[in-house]
Amino acid sequence: MKDELAARLAPYDQQHLLAFWDRLDAEQQASLAAQIRAIDFELIRRLYQRRDSRDDLRPLLARTAPPPAFRLDTTQNPFTPEQARRRGHQALDAGEVGAVLVAGGQGTRLDFPQPKGLFPIGPVSGKTLFQIHVEKVIARARRHGVRIPLYVMTSPATHEETAVFLAAHDRFGLPPDELRVFCQGSMPAVDAATGGLLLESPGRIATSPDGHGGLLEAAARNGVLDDLRRRGIRQLFYLQVDNPLVDICGPEFIGYHLLAGSELSSQVVAKRDPLERLGNVIEADGKTMVIEYSDLPDDVARRLSADGSLTIWAGSIAVHVIDVALLRRLSEASHGLPFHIARKRVAHIDSTGRQIEPSDLNAIKFERFIFDLIPLARNPIVVEVDRRSAFAPIKNASGAKEDTPESAQGLLTALHRSWLRRAGAEVGDEVPVEISPLMALDAEELAAKLPRGTRITQPTYLA
Ligand code: UTP
Repeated sequence: MKDELAARLAPYDQQHLLAFWDRLDAEQQASLAAQIRAIDFELIRRLYQRRDSRDDLRPLLARTAPPPAFRLDTTQNPFTPEQARRRGHQALDAGEVGAVLVAGGQGTRLDFPQPKGLFPIGPVSGKTLFQIHVEKVIARARRHGVRIPLYVMTSPATHEETAVFLAAHDRFGLPPDELRVFCQGSMPAVDAATGGLLLESPGRIATSPDGHGGLLEAAARNGVLDDLRRRGIRQLFYLQVDNPLVDICGPEFIGYHLLAGSELSSQVVAKRDPLERLGNVIEADGKTMVIEYSDLPDDVARRLSADGSLTIWAGSIAVHVIDVALLRRLSEASHGLPFHIARKRVAHIDSTGRQIEPSDLNAIKFERFIFDLIPLARNPIVVEVDRRSAFAPIKNASGAKEDTPESAQGLLTALHRSWLRRAGAEVGDEVPVEISPLMALDAEELAAKLPRGTRITQPTYLA
């Protein structure tokens, strides 16, 4: 077996993967052989060779225009919020909407030892991200008297703990056949200097999840697309695990998507600053696409349109509605989404078996991004949302400048306090408050349930 594997590796200069072969027991050898056979070495070589050849985006960016958008605070949109809500309600009432939650990331910046979904984020309740998301799905489904299946995408890095956690908590009340956990693929990490694959241990190749864009392939491979067909689900609401403010399956957003005949709609916020670190949704040459902030030259980012507003104004918050037909069409066409290159720190063993904990960006990871679906979709649109009610990213550990658990909790509390005040309650600025999704999904629902004259003077969780 060793010779066969060596012959497979030799054309790609990857024979070092067998350096410890003779020390492995039979089971470990079989496992390493299976790992090697599953890798597309030709693809890895091609991606590595192209690692520094970034497309020159300047000519394209010179032709940039704002994307087709539904904006806040304007009467210029082709449909009103009321029309959109009505259309969204219809789709929800018809049971045509499902949700997909991507939770396969390694969450390295957060520095939390478990999958991010297990992070306790409720400012008063201490509920985990998973529980908050699941309860929103349950509440939305109840409101419309339908089932909203929730698909949770994990990765080899998060799968086991996520599945055990959700099962141990009885899926936080979601019936077993309405929650489906499926695992995305992974890609080997390579040494940035040589392109050689890294060994995590003598019998294990270092790999990482293949990006949230791995959803396309993973949904087809794991029977999610078949399941959607069987249930008659036509639109998938997409969210990422690290934003507890997402208004899951909110009817207005779904309504704009359907009224515009869009196959992929994206929630965006108006950037606070031209250089804000968000993906930028733009249109160029008739195509809508996302340009990463790292690819956007400062002068282009600052460019103004004729009316004096920022041309590149729309910052993606990674919340989408995706037409299932698009996923089906692309998974049949199947070259998959392109891979992007990320330089990261990856621990590994060296040729003597010594454990290396690098302090520099020693490795390259290959990831697919969900937003690469946008240019492939028909009539993609963006829908502007108010960031205070939609966007509380948790990326960094406590103490960092932004996007920390504390900043997210502050945003959650502020939103819920504003709902309480709109419902007529008295609540002090310093008092921590939190509203369970099962109590209310929005200010109107809260107002209908909250007793008159409510006064809140101490930390309160309304459930
Ligand atoms: P991020 O790009 O913020 O990555 O993921 P991350 O892995 O969570 O965190 P860092 O960069 O290591 O600190 C955004 C969302 O996409 C999901 C994450 O779980 C998160 O919900 N994701 C990311 C996947 O599902 N799979 C991946 O391969 C990568």
